[in-house]
Amino acid sequence: MIALDLFECPVYVSTVRQWHNVKDSFLKTIDWGSEECYREEGMVGGYTDYFKFYNAGIVPNYFDKLMDIISEPMSMFQQMNPGSYVSNAWCQRYSKTACHPAHNHGALGFSAVFYAQLDSYDSPTSFFSPFPNPWTGQVKAVVPDCREGDIIFFPSSLIHQSLPHRGYQDKIIFSFNISKSTEQISL
Ligand SMILES: [Fe+2]
Repeated sequence: MIALDLFECPVYVSTVRQWHNVKDSFLKTIDWGSEECYREEGMVGGYTDYFKFYNAGIVPNYFDKLMDIISEPMSMFQQMNPGSYVSNAWCQRYSKTACHPAHNHGALGFSAVFYAQLDSYDSPTSFFSPFPNPWTGQVKAVVPDCREGDIIFFPSSLIHQSLPHRGYQDKIIFSFNISKSTEQISL
């Protein structure tokens, strides 16, 4: 008898080197006072500019700078996934107890989370296995060991959540989806 792993769940983790050199100046470019970014939609508590920018099809003012900052891990991802591109991004800030319940981003390609501020008491993203345990039916949750300055790429359809924030500092992440043009997708 042979054992086969029929399916894979590709996830990549990389680091934005020298993030600490640009962190403060970059985070100052975010409009943290924007009232529309504090409405209870999607995440519970905290700040999200997803609806202001990404969902409205508007590119935020920080987009080009963000892409510049993550260019090294992004180009590594693109070497492994030729033709992939980022069209937009959004920012989320978790104050005490804020969370983002389990969700996925649809069958879009890949998604990514860049941990712009994450102290050692806080938890990065928690991912759920697409395959329940065959004996128990339980769904395993995994929290990859990511630190501030890390970026994680994962299939957009993978269910994930941000657990209630417990760190001393607010957790700040930038997220985006990664697509390919239809000509470059082979079925
Ligand atoms: Fe998400």
